[in-house]
Amino acid sequence: MLNPVKVGILGLGTVGGGTVSTLQKNADEIARRAGRGIVVTHACAKEINKAYPYDTDNIKLTDQLIDVVNQPDIDIVVELIGGTTIALEIILKAIQNGKHVVTANKALIAKHGNEIFAAAQEKGVMVAFEAAVAGGIPIIKALREGLAANEIAYIAGIINGTSNFILTEMREKGSDFSEVLAEAQDLGYAEKDPTFDIEGVDAAHKLTILASIAFGIPLQFDKVYMEGITKISNEDVKFADELGYKIKHLGITKRTDKGIELRVHPTFVAKKRLIANVEGVMNAVLVDSDALGESLYYGAGAGALATGSAIIADLVDVTRTLTTDPGNRVPHLAFQALADLPIVAIEEIETSYYLRISANDTLGVLAYITSILSEQNINIEAIIQKEPIEGTEEVTIVILTYKVVEKNLNKAIETIEKLDAINGQVTHIRVEN
Ligand code: HSE
Repeated sequence: MLNPVKVGILGLGTVGGGTVSTLQKNADEIARRAGRGIVVTHACAKEINKAYPYDTDNIKLTDQLIDVVNQPDIDIVVELIGGTTIALEIILKAIQNGKHVVTANKALIAKHGNEIFAAAQEKGVMVAFEAAVAGGIPIIKALREGLAANEIAYIAGIINGTSNFILTEMREKGSDFSEVLAEAQDLGYAEKDPTFDIEGVDAAHKLTILASIAFGIPLQFDKVYMEGITKISNEDVKFADELGYKIKHLGITKRTDKGIELRVHPTFVAKKRLIANVEGVMNAVLVDSDALGESLYYGAGAGALATGSAIIADLVDVTRTLTTDPGNRVPHLAFQALADLPIVAIEEIETSYYLRISANDTLGVLAYITSILSEQNINIEAIIQKEPIEGTEEVTIVILTYKVVEKNLNKAIETIEKLDAINGQVTHIRVEN
């Protein structure tokens, strides 16, 4: 067998720990798969004198990132520090030094991947990022290689475990968003600053990557339409249930005649769909492609061992292809030539909607609402009106529409909100069929 491949890890936190412990535990099996051993020889950690729950005797620890990327005998650098500033600098430095790179950093790939891949291409090194999307699920591998025969039409993913956990708990326990968020923070599922997860930013990073490898387009994070789960009320969760749906936070990318849709938002999904039954912190990605048809990839989207599993899969891949001519390797974004397809503005997408309207129970209010909708060519699929809230004249009207171009729905909502009998804003959530 050839000498082991030498790896330097930047960051020995949760994922770094999961990666090192599995590399050590399954060393023989991994060597048998890769054709040679894969050993961590250097690591950069915040605390170099701490006792780690895995063997660090043969790992040279430093608290300086540059010490690792400048090590002449390291073949692969694993970046697990996160963020988009120092991580970008250090990855570019590693590439410049001729190192292959494995990263779990979705924000970095989504925002700077085009630049990183160009630098890697020039140097003839690989940058692998399986762990950046849906944690341990091998979705990059599946899309980029397993589905290489297919023209991909559509991807919908539950790609943020924190949001999925919060929505699941809201539905199962009837709790409010803020209560569940606090619980998620206590359990360590949500960060102290949960903005990236609950505002859809994390899902948008992952969707950017999925869309690029599905359609062979450059990474375009700034064009993703992004909406998080912070405005989902308990009332909407209950109405969804009554109508036969669950609310899921989805990342959706779709090939249409107008171009590529790129959007993350809360979505009504029929309860009978498999993806609607992905609960808690689990992730799943549904792909529709012309030859295979629908396929669904399910698993843990985070966690030390699960994410470490994806990092090690990349290490094995890189190890196997070290001697391959760069032109014969799997392209970073799946296609040898990228296409310049337009990204569809959110106002131009066509989808169905759930509308929740609070109105005063006056004569003709429902007739006004339905005529405004029909003026915009919006066809109603279902409608519920509850009796007035006790002690008031206030009624809740819930409407499911057939497909409509979003700008027409926006016009209708604007007109409805101006009616005297309407209280506050019209809640609207997209429905995915
Ligand atoms: N914060 C992410 C999530 C996990 O909640 O899914 C890592 O991507």
